[in-house]
Amino acid sequence: MAHPLLEVSELSRSFGGICAVNSLSFRIEAGGITGLIGPNGAGKTTVFNLITAVYRPSSGAILLDGHDLAGKRPYEVVRAGVARTFQNIRLFGRLTCLENVMTPICARGAHGRFAALFRTPSVRNEERRARESALSTLDALGISDTANLIASTLPYGLQRKLEIARALACNPRLLLLDEPAAGMNDAEMSELGDTIVRVRQNFDVTIILIEHHIKLVMGICTNLVVMERGALLAEGKPNDIQNDERVVAAYLGRPRASGGKKRHV
Ligand SMILES: Nc1ncnc2c1ncn2[C@@H]1O[C@H](COP(=O)(O)OP(=O)(O)OP(=O)(O)O)[C@@H](O)[C@H]1O
Ligand SMILES: [Mg+2]
Repeated sequence: MAHPLLEVSELSRSFGGICAVNSLSFRIEAGGITGLIGPNGAGKTTVFNLITAVYRPSSGAILLDGHDLAGKRPYEVVRAGVARTFQNIRLFGRLTCLENVMTPICARGAHGRFAALFRTPSVRNEERRARESALSTLDALGISDTANLIASTLPYGLQRKLEIARALACNPRLLLLDEPAAGMNDAEMSELGDTIVRVRQNFDVTIILIEHHIKLVMGICTNLVVMERGALLAEGKPNDIQNDERVVAAYLGRPRASGGKKRHV
């Protein structure tokens, strides 16, 4: 029987007295865009941090294509095929956009330090291929004209796209996006939605999207996993979730707190 691409089983993680993720189980089949949604503090980012080995689970298992990720280090999870973006953007601010995207490609290079130091022909060839690949990834995100700009000088929305490009340069099977539309206006968000759908198809990657912009989530997700207080509240197709009374009561239907952040409908 085929494995799901990702299987999270009874996953828990506590920080002191706080149970950030509480016996959470869900499966992601290859090929779609799954929205991971829920109120602030529900544990969504912690799930990404557990999948990518930033944190170790207190208990439970995470299987990628049937293989246990337990005990792996973050770079080993990347090699296994998982890449991510961060809720708080983490780019190499002083490098150009092209260099940001080339970094993970070059890091995969097979050359030793000696060859790199003397820039042998095969090193130069590899650099040229990395540059071409990085440029085509920037192009796929619609930001190839930023290639030679310093990353930190980009407007916020473009930095978020650059982060996605850099994650794609890791050649992932599973791409985790943590609030890629944060801080975007409606037009930027709609354009980002089109980009994410295009990326899913062109890069043949499965996506998990954490997002509070419900319009974006409902527009592009094929499946939803809803968390509340670390646990699974509901799972299913966007239309069913939108009408699920528990989800409406816990999240979708809640009036926005005055001055509070997030859940943009
Ligand atoms: N490193 C940590 N140390 C202590 N507590 C943490 C840590 N990381 C997360 N938490 C706590 O775990 C809970 C879940 O946090 P998490 O960031 O996963 O929520 P979230 O669903 O991503 O929220 P948001 O939508 O606001 O980003 C929160 O109570 C948070 O304060
Ligand atoms: Mg978060």
